Amino acid sequence: MPETSKQPDRNGLQHLQGFFEGKRNLVVLSGAGISAASGIPTYRDKAGNWTRSNPIQHQDFISKKSARQRYWLRSYSGWTAVASAAPSSSHHAIAELERQKIVKLVVTQNVDRLHQYAGSRNVIDLHGRLDEVICMSCLRVTPRHALQTKLRLLNPSFSQQGDIAPDGDADVAEDSVVSVAVPPCENCGGILKPNVVFFGDNVSKSIVQRVYDGIDNSDGMLIVGTSLKVFSGYRFCRYAAQQRKPIASINPGLTRGDELIQTIIRGYSDDVLPPVLERIISSVP
Ligand code: APR
Repeated sequence: MPETSKQPDRNGLQHLQGFFEGKRNLVVLSGAGISAASGIPTYRDKAGNWTRSNPIQHQDFISKKSARQRYWLRSYSGWTAVASAAPSSSHHAIAELERQKIVKLVVTQNVDRLHQYAGSRNVIDLHGRLDEVICMSCLRVTPRHALQTKLRLLNPSFSQQGDIAPDGDADVAEDSVVSVAVPPCENCGGILKPNVVFFGDNVSKSIVQRVYDGIDNSDGMLIVGTSLKVFSGYRFCRYAAQQRKPIASINPGLTRGDELIQTIIRGYSDDVLPPVLERIISSVP
């Protein structure tokens, strides 16, 4: 279980409350750390070091049957844990900040949909969503839970054990990988892929532009629970800094963007966001 709590620092809370003052149009950029308290571990530790086995590469998934068999074997177990996770108090606090008209847009690198489950409405799932499956030929999108049922029927020996990862991967015994049966698309027989952006693939240009537009129209950026190690998220921190937008970050560790960020709160988001939200609400006349 990841470490997710320590005493909040009074100065940190005041600092963050000051950042929120007068803001009406914030962009939130979130990462795996915000879901740590929901029981979904992060990819990297507080120093930004990768803690998992090698993630699947987009090209391998497309070109190798064995890579797809291995993916679905592991994902069968990992998906169950992600699907049953509940939003953390940080997800709820961000949803409330949207209702209070302080946050306008949430951009998340997470594929777990916990922002939406907490009630956030204007969310960009930068790296896609794990609760959907897409056919790589006809592009039909279907619910992940339907595929889970088919996988179980085709592979009765599949287990639901193993350490899980934020992308729905899980460490399970792989001795039976060659016999894994993977269902094709029911519509066209094509290859099914989780509707997420794997390593080695790109976020679409139109989505990146929507985020840039959101930053242009914002009065600042709040970054929560991301190491910013991956360019996909880091570029938005860099862009916000180039546009001279005020930036705050909540993270118990170091991030790649720290030199660009004026308000750095070294803490766990569940210890910081709910009390600051309470202060903001109680200070409204
Ligand atoms: N509150 C806030 N931050 C936390 C918490 C917490 N409770 N717990 C951990 N963190 C921080 C860690 O210190 C770390 O900096 O969350 C960060 C998690 O970083 P990563 O695991 O690198 O996650 P993220 O930045 O979202 O990864 C980006 O990398 O592997 C790819 O595509 C994947 O979307 C992912 C991308």
